[in-house]
Amino acid sequence: MAECDTMDCVDPAGASLKTENRKYFTKTPSSLELWKMARELTPFGVHSNYRFTRPYPVYFRRGNGSRLYDIDRNEYIDYNMGFGALVAGHANPKLVGILKERLDNSSMLGFEDENSFEAANLLAARFHAEMIRFSTTGTEATMHAVRMARAYTGRQKILKFEGCYHGSNQDLLFSIKPDPSAAGQLSTPDAVPAGPGIPDFMKLGTVIAQFNDIDSVRNALERSAGDVAAVILEPYPMNMGVIIPIPGFISRLRKLCDEYGVLLIFDEVKTCGKFYGGAEEALGVVPDMKVLGKAIGGGVAVSAIAGSREIMENVGPGGVSHAGTFNSNPLSMSAVVTTLRSVLTRQSMARAQRLSEEMATSYSEMLNLYEIPSTVPIAGLSGAISFNSKQPCNWREFREGDIGRWNYYYLSMMNRGVIPAGPGADEQWTVSVMHTEDDVDRTIEVFKEVVPRISLRYPMPGMEESV
Ligand SMILES: Cc1ncc(COP(=O)(O)O)c(C=O)c1O
Repeated sequence: MAECDTMDCVDPAGASLKTENRKYFTKTPSSLELWKMARELTPFGVHSNYRFTRPYPVYFRRGNGSRLYDIDRNEYIDYNMGFGALVAGHANPKLVGILKERLDNSSMLGFEDENSFEAANLLAARFHAEMIRFSTTGTEATMHAVRMARAYTGRQKILKFEGCYHGSNQDLLFSIKPDPSAAGQLSTPDAVPAGPGIPDFMKLGTVIAQFNDIDSVRNALERSAGDVAAVILEPYPMNMGVIIPIPGFISRLRKLCDEYGVLLIFDEVKTCGKFYGGAEEALGVVPDMKVLGKAIGGGVAVSAIAGSREIMENVGPGGVSHAGTFNSNPLSMSAVVTTLRSVLTRQSMARAQRLSEEMATSYSEMLNLYEIPSTVPIAGLSGAISFNSKQPCNWREFREGDIGRWNYYYLSMMNRGVIPAGPGADEQWTVSVMHTEDDVDRTIEVFKEVVPRISLRYPMPGMEESV
């Protein structure tokens, strides 16, 4: 445009956001119609708060390999991949065959399925555990893990980190995305409930520390006067983009837990699918217990609590409670066996990681070219663009990122057929074993198109608490 005589020139960011919003409405009219009906029946029209996106969520019909198809028949290269549950890819043929056969022979036996031994065996070998119990979701598994830790130690409190998410588990629904103005000091954060409905007394069972700050952990343990049963963490926090543990933090945490007689629990619900042997293998630190989920089922709901014999042996009739009608159901057990044996192999995951690294390098180069303050941290086969001027170390630093830019990046990529990451600046991308070099090339082409406008100054809506 030669002359700056319109509102669009005065507010180029507003104009480009308006253009992308219009494109979104034009591209997904059936989703809009369905959402209008669905929200009358279901709060926000979605069955998980994390799935709500503005202006309205897109509704999908099917997936195949790296692709998703919405109800308007738009095709997308998907890097949300079921919030990390689909490292196997959509409808992986190795899984589809096995699961069809399983359905023919009943998806629910109501008794222990013969495959549950083999599934536990494969998990134990790969993720280094003496005993395993299956559950269905990550939320349940973290709930059971902290109960087992409390039972084993005879202590009440659990220490978690500000910004880490462990599912919609009431014990741990504190300080997930708190506003720092209501969350106390950086090194001695207060426990902030993630929303209404969490009883005040539950605060007493939770102690909060700052990620990547070992003194904050020591302080919290000292203040809790010997009543902390366990420290639970995402070893690479992936509910604030991707946070990288600073060298030595996790091994110091291990030592500190030993010093205070506290169990160390790795919540590997996400990370067990990012690295072949989970974050434990990548970091070389062995926790007392771990929680696995998402990717181990190749898209079928399953989770697991794993730990040493001494801790896990307390679980059982008359002992520590752990139950679930759908635990180790045959569909999930067949899925775990096939996923671990033949889909998420070391080789296939290394290939996915290489693609992810390639994508991260291209993103970084282009963001640097346009001098957009940003970092592109990677962990295993995942990564994220954080619009922060330096790599954030914890929730408070992450929160300072430019969410306005992130929103524009996400919307404009979606409009061009790429779901670049999970829906929300706190999410990350997952490259599956079914993504191809062509997918990555196409993604980079699309990013090249949108990156010049990412540099504009967009309205900052703030980080929504969508827990
Ligand atoms: C680290 C972590 N733990 C636990 C959970 C909860 O898992 P689910 O959604 O299967 O209940 C999540 C979900 O995103 C997660 O990211």
